[in-house]
Amino acid sequence: MGWETVEFRKVMVAGAGQMGSGIAQVAAQAGLEVWLRDVEERFVERGLATIRKHLDRDVEKGRKTAEEREAILGRIHPTLDLGPAAGVDLVIEAIVENREAKRSLFAELDRLAPPGAIFASNTSSLPITDLATATRRPDRFIGMHFMNPVPVMKLVEIIRGLDTSEETYAAIRDLAGRMGKTPVEVHDFPGFVSNRVLLPMLNEAMFAVYEGIASVEDVDTVMKLGMNHPMGPLELADFIGLDTCLYILNVLYEGFKDPKYRPCPLLVQLVQAGHHGRKTGQGFYRYE
Ligand code: CAA
Repeated sequence: MGWETVEFRKVMVAGAGQMGSGIAQVAAQAGLEVWLRDVEERFVERGLATIRKHLDRDVEKGRKTAEEREAILGRIHPTLDLGPAAGVDLVIEAIVENREAKRSLFAELDRLAPPGAIFASNTSSLPITDLATATRRPDRFIGMHFMNPVPVMKLVEIIRGLDTSEETYAAIRDLAGRMGKTPVEVHDFPGFVSNRVLLPMLNEAMFAVYEGIASVEDVDTVMKLGMNHPMGPLELADFIGLDTCLYILNVLYEGFKDPKYRPCPLLVQLVQAGHHGRKTGQGFYRYE
């Protein structure tokens, strides 16, 4: 092949939310030393608690031994500081889905991390080619899009930016395999593949409710029992976060300038009301 893939040893996962904590867990399970970074102690603590809970369940179910759990936890180092980026060979970013926030974090990391380190973004919809220009390493910049819940879902979309090198692509593809995931190569277009296909389905389910065709529960039942989906589309939208769904639909709508991606007014209204799904306790459903 002419190029060798990198054996990653140390990674900083930026963002300890649902996605970041899941990524930290699968990275530590793959044997990497992980610095799990967030901006507030309580966010990092919550991320660690989630990881502990899932590892405890694995031990309970006999999928891991208590020693393996301790070894995995021992490889995860919480931090509020970006300083440890100076010693890593990989950064995986999983912070808020906001272009400016991501660009400014990457610019800072670019100053701290070794020039050879690879930067990956878990963005679900922002262009990788654009994020890469916040750094001086667009050849070592790539999209690594995990699915929620990360420890369970087998897919990682690997998104090549315009200037992503072959070597970077191969290294990240191999790492996804080491994490127990199946990588799929995708080019840098709005929504990549996963959200370009998924979000119109969720949006259409919302229109079916909006137009009074069926109730929320019945639309979900149709897709669960009729199509064998593990969750109905409205339950899944709540799970993803309605704010995130709206954000991605707008990226598709603006990116392709195609009215077929027009967000359902019901979704817009729920987001305006602050009903963002499971995380706020209310969306298409109510949560305790
Ligand atoms: N983290 C780790 N493990 C989890 C988990 C989590 N957050 N949630 C569930 N699990 C595990 C459970 O521990 C359970 O394993 P065991 O019972 O063997 O211990 C297993 O997953 C199944 O869970 P449950 O029995 O509680 O519930 P379930 O069978 O309904 O499965 C589910 C839950 C895996 C989430 C399933 O409902 C599902 O696959 N839903 C669809 C998820 C999906 O489509 N995700 C993609 C969203 S799109 C995205 O992420 C991309 C984007 O950019 C928006």
